[in-house]
Amino acid sequence: MRARFLTAALLVAVGAVSTGCARKPQEPLVGVYLALTGDMADFGITTRQGIELAAEEINAAGGINGQRLRLLVEDDRGKPEEARTVVTKLIDQQGVVAVLGEVASKNSLAAAPICQARGIPMLSPSSTNEEVTRKGDYIFRVCFVDSFQGYVMARFASENLKARTAAVLWDNGSDYSKGLSSVFKSDFQKMGGRIVADVTYAAGDVDFSSQLTRIRAAQPDVIYVPGYYTEVALIGRKARELGITVPLLGGDGWDSENLLKRAGAALDGCYFSSHYSSDTGSPVVERFVRSFQERYSTMPNALAALGYDATWILAEAMKRAGSLEPRKIRDALAATRDYPGVTGQITINEERNAVKPAVVLQVKNGAFRYMTTIQPPDRN
Ligand code: PHE
Repeated sequence: MRARFLTAALLVAVGAVSTGCARKPQEPLVGVYLALTGDMADFGITTRQGIELAAEEINAAGGINGQRLRLLVEDDRGKPEEARTVVTKLIDQQGVVAVLGEVASKNSLAAAPICQARGIPMLSPSSTNEEVTRKGDYIFRVCFVDSFQGYVMARFASENLKARTAAVLWDNGSDYSKGLSSVFKSDFQKMGGRIVADVTYAAGDVDFSSQLTRIRAAQPDVIYVPGYYTEVALIGRKARELGITVPLLGGDGWDSENLLKRAGAALDGCYFSSHYSSDTGSPVVERFVRSFQERYSTMPNALAALGYDATWILAEAMKRAGSLEPRKIRDALAATRDYPGVTGQITINEERNAVKPAVVLQVKNGAFRYMTTIQPPDRN
């Protein structure tokens, strides 16, 4: 009842604005859709912190050509159907001129066609699956793609860890996990390695003993687990319980404080690829860490860093566009070159993906330790 009344009131308000101007309300109104509750809430909550910190800084520095940047944040509960619903609402009812989101690739894949069909630019801070930006020329991201991230860990396994054999354990309901496991497999084989076990699980599983028993029998040098922190923590614990001592390797889906809390010491000494580390010694990063800590009294993680970069890159594009026409914002986003982000120097390429480096981190003594930065193979 109350919700219906609010929706009606909102429609009236939007209607009043749109009769005043030609089309959409001409203010820098940006829609944000994230998982703020549910299994992946940690991703959405930390991303939102980065986005809001950037918006505050942008507004303190004069906004978008004198107008205040305004964010409308929606919770999609980490579900693709919900992502479609809230993005439709942000565009059709609230008149946003651009959209920021999502984190998990499957939610970005669900909502991207809606932004594309309506001609509203969408910028994902952190969805790395290749297919996301293939949904159309209005869909962008500020993170690297999984073909790069998978290559980074295949190379780290074979060169740094001297692994000859690997097992792969991935989530068959996640576009992200599926894509990343297949890149790792083919790159590791190209580098001369052998895949000795290829096993799947489903998000929400709590018992991984049958998968890990199979993997143990194959005696791999390393186990690649490109999943999200909830299942990865359980997999790590079970692996150690079964006497598996080899390192587990993963991707950016490991990058959460919750991985450390839930895995305890089980993943100590394991490695994963990600977007950001506070220990790279870059002045841009130091400044960001200071303002983030002042604002939230915690350390930013990769998601906060990506949310922050995405918001600044969008704001800079809106300023350069000199107009709030979504088409012009799109063109300006596509022209982003050498942006000095906290997640590295970012250039948007022709596929609307970010070309930038990745970092390899080690889980060590209850923290993430910076190991190395790996540049993309070619910088075009
Ligand atoms: N890259 C993941 C995906 O596309 C999301 C993610 C990014 C998770 C960064 C954690 C950290 O689904």
